Amino acid sequence: CVTLTDIEGSVVEIRDGAEGETLMELARRHDVKGIIAECGGACSCATCHVYIDAAWSAAVGAPDPVEEDMLDMVEDIRRPTSRLSCQITLHPGLDGLAVEVAPEL
Ligand code: FES
Repeated sequence: CVTLTDIEGSVVEIRDGAEGETLMELARRHDVKGIIAECGGACSCATCHVYIDAAWSAAVGAPDPVEEDMLDMVEDIRRPTSRLSCQITLHPGLDGLAVEVAPEL
């Protein structure tokens, strides 16, 4: 189960995440508001920006250098827990994950 709070503040619980699917793909499949994913998951648009719940940030891990560069482009709304959801691949260890969709710039 993954819980996303969309940009309107609605909480969406999704239970059919597949192992190997990215968090962005899952959110798009369920039309979660605020996940645009303009670049289709290529880590080059930052319109799939989410804030990881603090309790989950260690399990999710840190962004790689390419993702870091993209996150720098949205530094106005960046938080320490910011990640690009297209760079997070679902696996059983992330069952229960909670994130908040970042606002659009
Ligand atoms: Fe473009 Fe994630 S979908 S960076």
